[in-house]
Amino acid sequence: MKIAIIGGGNMGGAIALGLAQSNFISPSDITVSNRGTEKLNALKSSNPSIHTTTDNKAAVEGADIIILAVKPWVLDSVAIDIRNTLDLPKQIIVSVVAGATLERLAGLFSSADTIPAIFRAIPNTAIAVRQSMTLFTPYNAVPEQVDCIRALFDSVGKSLLIEENLMTAGTALCSCGTAFAMRYIRAAVEGGVEMGFYPKDAALLVEQTVKGAAELLLHSGNHPEVEIDKVTTPGGITIKGLNEMEAAGFSSAVIRGLKVSK
Ligand SMILES: NC(=O)c1ccc[n+]([C@@H]2O[C@H](COP(=O)([O-])OP(=O)(O)OC[C@H]3O[C@@H](n4cnc5c(N)ncnc54)[C@H](OP(=O)(O)O)[C@@H]3O)[C@@H](O)[C@H]2O)c1
Repeated sequence: MKIAIIGGGNMGGAIALGLAQSNFISPSDITVSNRGTEKLNALKSSNPSIHTTTDNKAAVEGADIIILAVKPWVLDSVAIDIRNTLDLPKQIIVSVVAGATLERLAGLFSSADTIPAIFRAIPNTAIAVRQSMTLFTPYNAVPEQVDCIRALFDSVGKSLLIEENLMTAGTALCSCGTAFAMRYIRAAVEGGVEMGFYPKDAALLVEQTVKGAAELLLHSGNHPEVEIDKVTTPGGITIKGLNEMEAAGFSSAVIRGLKVSK
């Protein structure tokens, strides 16, 4: 199994680093292609076993899976660049380009006699530490190819196959959601410093608390309110804090932010 990643920026680089630490593929079977060399050099210094190149055509030659991780406005020119080098339908195309529909991708990579297997996927940047929540949707893929792409993303976090019409909402929750969760963390750290902790200690306290809260929910499968009930003593300090946050519009602000990000 060989994987080519076209675009070695935030997302392409994070995918490469996450996959390189996974048991899905060996780092030496990953090739990242990027326009400039600066990001490739940074990637190489993080993991010298990953192959890098500025030649997209060379990257896709012999690859089983090609992951497109370029900005939306570069997608067409990349498709034109690699189209004639691709060995379709043998190779699987996976696009993480936000907003690029399966219809657009199929138009870019299909020919009169070949309709390739294409996946539209939205990982988040936690893929670099193998903790992504990745949403994906297939086009013209057989079950074995769906299983293969599910295994790829499960090796770097968790994945969920969804209908394409939920992609933009899923992007708001999981991709923009990384930033939203971090903004809560930043606010809590600032609160911790105001209450007397050094910033480094406040950051550790908040980050581990948020990680623990998420792990509790993932492991138990409980609704958040069930776990909240366990820490809210009647008349206690937690419920006072929660009610003050709600009075300031906490839940409403989160939902409104998600909806405008869609
Ligand atoms: N960041 C996220 O959380 C996230 C989540 C899900 C999906 N996405 C999607 O992932 C895609 C990439 O986003 P990003 O944040 O990684 O952007 P980025 O950091 O700007 O990375 C894009 C990379 O593509 C390279 N590139 C440009 N033209 C190229 C070409 N013709 N051939 C090969 N490489 C080329 C750029 O290289 P140079 O810098 O050298 O020009 C850059 O390193 C976007 O479509 C975005 O919607 C991002």
